[in-house]
Amino acid sequence: MENNAVILAGGQGKRMKTDKPKVLCNVIGEPMLEWVLTACENAQLENICVVKGFAAEMIDEYVNNRSSKAEIQTVMQEERLGTGHAVMQAKDFLEAHKDGNTLILCGDAPFIDADTINGALELHTQRDCSVTVVTSRVENPTGYGRIIRTENGISGIVEHKDCDPYQLAITEINSGCYWFKTSDLLEVLFDITPDNAQGEYYLTDCIELLIAKGKTADAYISHNPNVALVANDRRGLLMLNDIARSEIIGKFLDDGIEFCCTDGVSIGNNVTIGAGTVIHSGVILRGNTTIGENCVLGNNCIIENTRVGNNVNLNNVQAYESVIEDDVKIGPYVQLRPNSHIMRGVKIGDFVEIKNSTIGEYTAVAHLTYIGDSDVGANVNFGCGVVTVNYNGDKKFRTVIEDNAFIGCNTNLIAPVRVGKGAYTAAGSTITKDIPDNALAIERGKAEIKEGYASRKLKARTEKYEQQKKIENK
Ligand code: UD1
Ligand code: CA
Repeated sequence: MENNAVILAGGQGKRMKTDKPKVLCNVIGEPMLEWVLTACENAQLENICVVKGFAAEMIDEYVNNRSSKAEIQTVMQEERLGTGHAVMQAKDFLEAHKDGNTLILCGDAPFIDADTINGALELHTQRDCSVTVVTSRVENPTGYGRIIRTENGISGIVEHKDCDPYQLAITEINSGCYWFKTSDLLEVLFDITPDNAQGEYYLTDCIELLIAKGKTADAYISHNPNVALVANDRRGLLMLNDIARSEIIGKFLDDGIEFCCTDGVSIGNNVTIGAGTVIHSGVILRGNTTIGENCVLGNNCIIENTRVGNNVNLNNVQAYESVIEDDVKIGPYVQLRPNSHIMRGVKIGDFVEIKNSTIGEYTAVAHLTYIGDSDVGANVNFGCGVVTVNYNGDKKFRTVIEDNAFIGCNTNLIAPVRVGKGAYTAAGSTITKDIPDNALAIERGKAEIKEGYASRKLKARTEKYEQQKKIENK
């Protein structure tokens, strides 16, 4: 018995005013389709078929570039003739996996979750249903299909536009997610007709057709109050973002994370944070980011796909695909570009950029410095304004700085170059040669002092100044 999924993702989302398929619009930095795929994978579904339509090539590109646990394929719906018609396009997929159950979901309802999927499957299997609809009780059911309950299940779903006044008052709605016994679905799917208010092939009509064949249909009320929420326009999308944002922050509050203020705070679904960490306003954590315990993330940090250890203090830091070990202090106004590894106890001060480099334990990079393509050892001190000159306009080269080195202010290190253990560079040097261990390198013009040179010029300059002063004092 296999359990698989078909995700309906053919919609354009005209009201979003975007060239993308609607399901690729983001909620907390991830496309809605990603949320749905993740829920299916978390529920251990093995094969997924995505029905694409509008801007189909973008769906293919997304699915192909994603590292997926499930086996994912896509099928094309040339014309958008309704949810039933969309599922018809997955005929080959359904036939190839005939003996199991198929979950049908809407790609624009991102908050479906694995517990709901599995809870509904349990009811579906226990009651030996042909179809089990995932439902939600909502205050405002406008626009949704209404669930018609019977003594031992349901008798069907009536679309909002087809409802009579009595049905309009029903508050249990169709989330657009269902478990079907795959072979039963195939038996009735091609019998539905577009005889309804919208002239569409309604997938929901399958339910009555199955019941007419003596099969069982039931509804599973999800514990998740957001399960049926969809985004049809930018307002709706912003609302989903706000809901996701506060749900995620709520979970972190339970885990002992402190939020001084949640203004502008946005944390992705795959982020983990250790207890005792404090988060200030404007912090954005994205992708596979891990933050350790007892850290302070000051204002406006953006951290993406980065591992941060314990007791780390970041203030106005942007970090991408990097590692920051324990007891590090960084900021303000620092950027760590991809592949930076900041080891334990390092201090990095204002206006520093680091890229594709390792910074060894207890090294200090206090201010105004660029370190790119470099291997920096432990306990190195960088003066103000150091630049690793890693690019000659054509190729990039590495800089190696060994343990305990001392890089004077305003040093340029022309890569490839090596600064030996404990070596010094004189301030203002442009270092072009490797420096042996414990040496001092001075590579700058020799001082030349011309006695009295300035006094000749000074007269002209001061005269003008004196004149100016006289005018002012009049
Ligand atoms: C559908 C349900 C309704 C339910 C609601 C939940 C039907 C007939 N009605 O209504 O009971 O309450 O979802 O959101 O199924 N899609 C395609 N191709 C199509 C039509 C739709 O891929 O030809 C996709 C859409 O992109 C969307 C999903 O299917 O992701 C749902 O379609 P939509 O038109 O929004 O369905 P509703 O009329 O809202
Ligand atoms: Ca809809």
